Amino acid sequence: MSKDVDSADPAVRIAELRESVARHNALYYEQDSPELPDADYDAMVHELRALEEANPELAEASSSGQTVGGAPSTIFAPVVHEVKMASLDNAFDLDELRAWGDRLDRRLGDDTSIDEYAIELKFDGLALSVRYEDGQLVRAATRGDGTTGEDVTHSVRTIADIPHTLVGNPPPVVEVRGEAYMRRSTFDRLNTEQVAAGLKEYSNPRNAAAGSIRQKDAAIAATRGLSFWPYQLGQVVDGPELHTHSETFDFLTSIGFTVNEHTRVVNKLDAVVEFIQEYEGRRHDLDYEFDGVVTKVNRLELQNQLGSTARAPRWAIAYKMPPEERATRLEEIRISIGTNGSATPFAYLDPVFVGGVTVTTATLHNQDQVAAKDVRPGDMVIVRRAGDVIPEVVGPVLSERDPDSEPWTFPTNCPICDTALVRPEGEARHRCPNFHCPAQVRGRIAHFAQRSAMDIEYFGDRTVDLLVTEGFLTDVGDVFNLDPEVLRGFEGFGDISITNMTNSLEASRSRPLGKLIFGLAINHVGSTNGEVLAKAFGSLEALAAATVEDVAAIDGIGPTIAESVVEWFSSETGKEIVAKLQAGGVRPVAPQVATNEQTLEGKSIVVSGSLANYGRTEAKEAITSRGGKAPGSVSAKTFALVVGADPGASKVTKAEAAGVPVIDEAAFERLLDTGELS
Ligand code: IVH
Repeated sequence: MSKDVDSADPAVRIAELRESVARHNALYYEQDSPELPDADYDAMVHELRALEEANPELAEASSSGQTVGGAPSTIFAPVVHEVKMASLDNAFDLDELRAWGDRLDRRLGDDTSIDEYAIELKFDGLALSVRYEDGQLVRAATRGDGTTGEDVTHSVRTIADIPHTLVGNPPPVVEVRGEAYMRRSTFDRLNTEQVAAGLKEYSNPRNAAAGSIRQKDAAIAATRGLSFWPYQLGQVVDGPELHTHSETFDFLTSIGFTVNEHTRVVNKLDAVVEFIQEYEGRRHDLDYEFDGVVTKVNRLELQNQLGSTARAPRWAIAYKMPPEERATRLEEIRISIGTNGSATPFAYLDPVFVGGVTVTTATLHNQDQVAAKDVRPGDMVIVRRAGDVIPEVVGPVLSERDPDSEPWTFPTNCPICDTALVRPEGEARHRCPNFHCPAQVRGRIAHFAQRSAMDIEYFGDRTVDLLVTEGFLTDVGDVFNLDPEVLRGFEGFGDISITNMTNSLEASRSRPLGKLIFGLAINHVGSTNGEVLAKAFGSLEALAAATVEDVAAIDGIGPTIAESVVEWFSSETGKEIVAKLQAGGVRPVAPQVATNEQTLEGKSIVVSGSLANYGRTEAKEAITSRGGKAPGSVSAKTFALVVGADPGASKVTKAEAAGVPVIDEAAFERLLDTGELS
């Protein structure tokens, strides 16, 4: 995959690239199991074509850079296309798209200009040509090498979007060309089933669609729920007179096909650019994959005038959206220690532009994931970044692996403090058990100081790093006991920054209690639970004195969280931190206490079914704001079960068995007011 073209002999490089392209063509088109992301394949073809153009004496018509698709396999009968199935030229950025427009204008000369472009999505699936004679589906073929495809009629007959009999006024012969694809939702379901059956997962919907169609047994395709978008006509005998590509779509609709709705006819390339930008933002909103936008000259007469090259029509261009998968070198696997000690393996990558950004690291999640993917330092790996999802390593490119490489093993010790890592039974993650591990201390202090917690301005990563490294902070309890004067003399800390830090520490002493609780980085306590606990207990002291039962009784807090909270406050470290916070003058602001009369103090009321005047949350709020509890299930301790429309039968049975009063909404409202059953 080296791109070191300059130093290499072009003949050698061309031969190398032709062989690689041919091999990857076979993997993609014939075996439906590509090893390389499309973008890397495209880059290889691009380089080959550029070299062939620069060195015309070395060009060959049979070069894999000039041919389309793969050789038809021998298991399916060959189908010679009456009209060649061409490919599309690509534009990898907007400049290339505009250059295409300029080329066409020049070619057409001064008298003719392009007044309409038809735009549509570039679907990521398998191209098919479906032939109808006298309105009946007679044959369906893959593209193959563009001239000869494979007969896949048996599988294609199982695709619901492809009619067996045309409606309306079909001509005696018509070939409909389009893309067979698999919806994302269908793909997810298929992979769940594959895993359940102990079979290999498909890497993406395209491969799953292609793999399902290119099966000898039509029964397989039948279970795969495939779909189809038509976008072009092949051979047509005695068809209607069509003038534009958009009329082709109308014709396709009239004979019973559903055309994709995301199409537009525009007058200027600027509008094509707008469409592209709009759909780049919608890439993950649709239930099927598209990797670009196809622009076609709308008038068929102009299409004819422009004609085709050996490879592709001049009148169309595929704008390729930034790739979401790329191959790159995995330089190293390093462990990162999180705030709570979790040890996460990260891939350090040769920087690669993927999903619109340059990615240098990607999570590998945990030991099992690394083992399952068997990615090794030094491997070429496929990196994926789709939408806003964090980048991940999909897997290695096995054919490029160094034969001497060894599987990677999870380190036994923390890379920061050298304590032996532990992996609690039943958990996927390793942890560094050393609470005082500098990585954890830094992480916890940064978490405590962040904007959504104590919001300590002037406590950025560099300052926290310095304070921890110099031993001025050992845990979050030290933060408010810090004398900012200690920073004097360190680079970048003078009078102003010391005053600023003093002021910002003072401002943070009185943040809301929920933010303080969240800031303590107690396992399982995020910002929402921090708020809930603050509301329920009103002070750090009250929360510190609570038992597991007290905490678990709070609506929305489960036993795991309750145990984690109590464990933290009763640990030596927890107690020390609370004491230090108090000594440091922290005075969190308690949440507004409910102004309702506390009529339901100590009473537990369960609501089941829908009430006319209260939503589920409102009913709970009505109970808890009056001092009551609103658990989800009935027990002997329940004060009353309120039933609305369609209550849970098991709750009613349980209440009756336990002698818990069952009341209606009117009685519930009286109960809220008086605290009594009437
Ligand atoms: S038109 C002569 N329109 O992209 C023009 N192709 O890279 C033939 N494709 O072989 C193709 N969406 O498999 C066309 N809206 C679309 C398309 C589309 C996806 C595929 C098709 C084609 C390949 C070329």
